[in-house]
Amino acid sequence: MAEPPQAFLESIDCPFETDAPIGRRTWYGIGGKAGICAHPRNIEQLTALGRWAHHQNVPLRVLGKGANLLVASAEVDGIVLMLDAPPFRSIEIDQDLCTVTCGGGAPLEQTITTAVRAGLEGLEHLAGIPATIGGALRMNAGGAFGEIGPAVLSITAMGPNGEMEPWTRDDYEYAYRKTNLTDHIVAEAVFALKKTETPEALRAELKRVMKFKKDSQPMADDSAGCAFKNPIGRSDKPAGRLIDEAGLKGFRIGGAEVSNIHANFIVLHEGAKATNVLALMNHVQQAVREKHGVELEREVVVW
Ligand code: EPU
Repeated sequence: MAEPPQAFLESIDCPFETDAPIGRRTWYGIGGKAGICAHPRNIEQLTALGRWAHHQNVPLRVLGKGANLLVASAEVDGIVLMLDAPPFRSIEIDQDLCTVTCGGGAPLEQTITTAVRAGLEGLEHLAGIPATIGGALRMNAGGAFGEIGPAVLSITAMGPNGEMEPWTRDDYEYAYRKTNLTDHIVAEAVFALKKTETPEALRAELKRVMKFKKDSQPMADDSAGCAFKNPIGRSDKPAGRLIDEAGLKGFRIGGAEVSNIHANFIVLHEGAKATNVLALMNHVQQAVREKHGVELEREVVVW
């Protein structure tokens, strides 16, 4: 007989919510709920939960910042995890080793500012990307100035069987917005940085990257960033251009609209529903397929 998740979570003293409105916690601010949303207190509880879920065949999903996520289902099955307890949000600098060690739920922005304040360079080019460390590592988050992959020294990640695995930088394989961490949950990561000789210049660089991001992507506040990956190797045009040339700027389904400023951003209006966003993404994919013969792949994760 399957054990109800509530009973198990209570038995290990792991805090959880029922009917958690997780759609509202994403950047889109809309979408369904999680039947159960658990907040493990530490790695031990996370591991216990991982092993239990493996044996019971219960899917686990992690909600990070929700910056790249659409909760399209009315109710997400299995257990949704939030790594928001202090051990998962910790950020520690080691000046001798020139590393920053952080929990999988630590905010990327805070990790970057902590490193820059400590005079360590190597993450500042990622400024302005909203993510937790786990989410950023899973999709190899990046922007105009580079990606997170090259900074990784090691990762502690829970595999699908619930066991914690120590990954070296060689185990972690990454490409454009893609990694081999897909069915793992990051508990902790260590980044190898470099002591700067010029702390003021490093702080200025951080500001420069943030300004560039703000200036070029004015819509970021009401959207979840780029909706589609650039079809690198399959088209010489980025997704934004392909969508633009398909004449879709301003195209709207319900409360979801293709941004007039940058065609790879979907922006929302009052009353928008997650199903509107999903329908709009499908429409965009179909229109780009017909116009350009290119299959766009979603960057936004859909639950
Ligand atoms: N373009 C159009 N019409 C548009 C939008 C763009 O023709 O509506 C053309 C422009 O001519 C521009 C080109 O497309 O020269 C590329 O646009 P942009 O410079 O904005 O870059 P992108 O490829 O659309 C990528 C990332 C962004 C990242 C920027 C940094 C992807 C899918 N997108 O955008 O990442 O911030 O580079 O410059 O990789 C994200 O991942 O969520 C994201 C926003």
